[in-house]
Amino acid sequence: MKTPKELKVKPIKNGTVIDHITANKALNVLKILKLPSKKSAVTIAMNVHSSQMGSKDIVKIEGRELKQREVDKIALIAPNATINIVRDYEIVEKGKVNLLDEINNILECPNPNCITNTNEPVKTKFYVIEKKPVTLRCYHCERIMNKEDIESDLY
Ligand code: CTP
Ligand code: ZN
Repeated sequence: MKTPKELKVKPIKNGTVIDHITANKALNVLKILKLPSKKSAVTIAMNVHSSQMGSKDIVKIEGRELKQREVDKIALIAPNATINIVRDYEIVEKGKVNLLDEINNILECPNPNCITNTNEPVKTKFYVIEKKPVTLRCYHCERIMNKEDIESDLY
């Protein structure tokens, strides 16, 4: 049993707890998830102490589980985030976001001349050429996307 001092934010009954979010990225995670919405109660903690990370953010969403595509977007901005699924106050599933070597069909290429920005039916594909800070290269036109390019595309 955690003491009140340790338990900074109230537990949720059903939904998702996104923990170990890179400090100060919680509001960007909400933008990716298109929250707040009328349906779900959301709790946010920012810059709370973490033994592993120094400081971190936490987002708790009542009554909603995440789609894989949303988890993959979160991995691009908060690579250490953990996704906890809660049912009836218990954690029933705990996973980590995973930044894969290829980002398929999630981001638009910033190069207006890229084939993915023409009327051709070609899906976007980027190689992750660096993880920290995350840097991508378009498979089709070799345009580099840095952290700022990625963030401006995501939100
Ligand atoms: N949590 C919650 N509501 C619940 C259960 C858990 O909001 N009903 C939150 C906790 O506050 C914590 C996160 O979910 O932020 C993960 O909970 P838990 O696995 O119990 O904590 P840790 O063991 O510290 O997590 P980790 O293994 O990810 O470090
Ligand atoms: Zn391109």
